[in-house]
Amino acid sequence: MGVTAGTVVRVNGPVVDVAGMDSVAMLELVEVGEARLPGEIIALERGTATVQVYEYTGGLRPGEPVEASGGPLMAELGPGLVGGVFDGMLRRLAGAPEFLEVGARPATLDRSLRWRFVPVVVEGEDLEAGAVLGSVPETPTVEHRALVPPRIAGRLEWIAPEGEYTVEEPIARVAGRELTLLQRWPVRRPRPVRARLHAGAPLVTGQRVLDLLYPLARGSTAAVPGGFGTGKTVLLQQIAKWCDADVIVYVGCGERGNELADVLQELSELEDARTGRRLLDRTVLVANTSNMPVLAREASIYTGVTVAEYFRDQGHETVVIADSTSRWAEALREVASRTGQLPAEEGYPPGLASALAAFYERAGRVRTLAGAEASVSVLGAVSPPGGDMVEPVAAHTRRFVRAVWSLDRDLAYARHHPAVSWRDSFCRDADALAGWHSLHGDWNWGERRVRALSLLAEADRIEAIAQLIGAGSLPDVERIVLLSGRLLREAVLQQSALSANDAHCEPSKQAALLDMVLALHDCFRRLLDQGVPATRIEETDLAEATRVRDEAGPGDVEAVEAVRGRLLATLGGLL
Ligand SMILES: Nc1ncnc2c1ncn2[C@@H]1O[C@H](COP(=O)(O)OP(=O)(O)O)[C@@H](O)[C@H]1O
Ligand SMILES: [Mg+2]
Repeated sequence: MGVTAGTVVRVNGPVVDVAGMDSVAMLELVEVGEARLPGEIIALERGTATVQVYEYTGGLRPGEPVEASGGPLMAELGPGLVGGVFDGMLRRLAGAPEFLEVGARPATLDRSLRWRFVPVVVEGEDLEAGAVLGSVPETPTVEHRALVPPRIAGRLEWIAPEGEYTVEEPIARVAGRELTLLQRWPVRRPRPVRARLHAGAPLVTGQRVLDLLYPLARGSTAAVPGGFGTGKTVLLQQIAKWCDADVIVYVGCGERGNELADVLQELSELEDARTGRRLLDRTVLVANTSNMPVLAREASIYTGVTVAEYFRDQGHETVVIADSTSRWAEALREVASRTGQLPAEEGYPPGLASALAAFYERAGRVRTLAGAEASVSVLGAVSPPGGDMVEPVAAHTRRFVRAVWSLDRDLAYARHHPAVSWRDSFCRDADALAGWHSLHGDWNWGERRVRALSLLAEADRIEAIAQLIGAGSLPDVERIVLLSGRLLREAVLQQSALSANDAHCEPSKQAALLDMVLALHDCFRRLLDQGVPATRIEETDLAEATRVRDEAGPGDVEAVEAVRGRLLATLGGLL
């Protein structure tokens, strides 16, 4: 750190005023007090700086020194991130979510580990910024690619031979600059790319209601708003476990610590079906749980997205998950109230919307500087106090995301999980993805989705009438819509996070299950046309349709088709 730059004059919780700060910049990283608490400058006025401190300021007193670092908050990037657990400033934790002693500063990357580096370039080559220098097998699933940092380019004067190197040993010299496996990047600045691309392939989450009805393209954004206990954390953790990305950055932000400890435990035990490796071997955990200092949350989502961009730049498909952005916004409110900023809405600072945008805007599908196609997708939970969906965080988030997966309290109470509402959810990628699917072998994808959504809407409408007049008084055509709607909800949309077979579902089985329900619905209609009364259809035992999602494996299409065949035959017998 640099020279002493100022003196503490006032301590107001995590917000500290420092005098004598003449030659510092906004957002400069500083160390406050004898304990050297890290913080960022968030306001500057005539030599007095306001600093948000990322640790407890308990023992801090006026008169203590403050040192400026000369730069903004940086993330340390390199091999050793994957499989690790870090706090909001990317300091390595021994477990999740452990509590760092005040002033403790474990580095992000272990300095003593040696990594096998295999160069892919030869001396004398002209290298562009972002070019791949070589590979490092970081974990059995993630190949780390050592890159020329974004603003360096030129002749490769020297490259290290294949061998084992620590993150601080030189591995290359480009245009007179010595490069190591370790790089730094300011967390609040997006890493540069060559171009931003249009949406392409879907991000397969393995959750049927999302992939079939509210799908996301790689590089897109989604919010999961929902009241307490509606299943936000379970849903996001399911996605972290099963989505088809290369690297997942999971930011546990202000939520309970034991939840993160649980997910860490599960990720170490679970196997990735595609690779046969531990799911933890593709995951980076950033922990700023409710028992940790509130302001470190503020930085944690930017730290998380910076790590994801770094892996994107290596050509990987990455996903950032933040649970929850509402707890993150509490940090903004805390600062606003202590600095006397005029609150805009419900105590949040006027910068709330732009801070949220700065997070979601870092998602995207891109052409990297190295020329690869890769993406960062960003998913955030929104947990408004009291389930109020028009409060500022929920309202602004809706403007910035491509999909909203809204969790419904009534569905959650009825144990319909995941409680994704088909009334309040939306996605903007569906049309583009229907096109993608039809080019990739599933020409029926868009029509299947539209039929499912309209069946759900029609069943809802009829259900409302049935509640007034009784289901028995409904005409037969409406009664079978209720039956099909229920089948659709129970056999397709509900999905147990606790069942080994059902926790995730491959696209082929997803489509087979929905096709089965739609075929049954068509069959009901034909039977009515041919004079079979609705009561006889209702009395037919269709439970097998609901059981097969749980009884057959995640990709077992044949089992679903066999059930479909048997049920259609049984129904045919009603004629
Ligand atoms: N897909 C699911 N399968 C089974 N149970 C679920 C599922 N989703 C949610 N639940 C149940 O709902 C409870 C609350 O979910 P949680 O994700 O902690 O809610 P939130 O984060 O919204 O407060 C879980 O403990 C679990 O019992
Ligand atoms: Mg939760």
